[in-house]
Amino acid sequence: MANRGLFITFEGMDGSGKTTQMHRLAARLRGLGRTVLETVEPGGPPVAMQIRRILLDSANQDLSPTTEVLLYFASRAQNVDQWIAPALARGEIVLSDRFTDSSLVYQGCGRGLGEESVAALERIACRGIRPDLTLLVDIDPESSLGRARARNLAQPHDETRMDDQSLDFHRKVYEAYHALAAREPERVKIVDGRADIDGIEREIWDIVGRRL
Ligand code: TMP
Repeated sequence: MANRGLFITFEGMDGSGKTTQMHRLAARLRGLGRTVLETVEPGGPPVAMQIRRILLDSANQDLSPTTEVLLYFASRAQNVDQWIAPALARGEIVLSDRFTDSSLVYQGCGRGLGEESVAALERIACRGIRPDLTLLVDIDPESSLGRARARNLAQPHDETRMDDQSLDFHRKVYEAYHALAAREPERVKIVDGRADIDGIEREIWDIVGRRL
């Protein structure tokens, strides 16, 4: 795509702290005078936020794996068409809290739907848009579930359907993230999510600074 901006995604297990880090990176970039669009998946534009509610509502335990992956990509298609592609065409920096890699590891590997199904949906939904850089904020599956469940207890809400999955499911997701980072080391950078928040922010800033 001609004249495009920079597309950076944040990935990681639930409770990794990636959302906080994304907001901090956005603030630093804006401090440099850059125009930044922040989005989240599932979600982003209002229609995609409605799809998010279906996906994460703990009441929807009977959602089938196929419906689930189609809804994640339905949300993504709306996000790409309405927000991400236009912002990149304007030359802006887009930050996304999760993107296609999440579908690869959670649905392709965690649910066992396979990488080819995810790749096929990506071809339809993403219009060739792939992240320039992906920051994988890394914590182990046990800490992930512990942090997610503690957060859900402290601030009760309905968006827990994925956190309700077994430790075995989250272990598969963890392995899949590491396999992805090994396969695409230029794009996917692992950041240690157990370090202190300011330290993680500095490490991310070093990595991003090299791409600006
Ligand atoms: P989060 O907003 O706390 O990151 O939660 C989103 C949940 O949705 C998280 O458990 C990961 C899951 N997810 C998928 O399974 N597939 C996807 O494609 C995306 C974007 C998220």
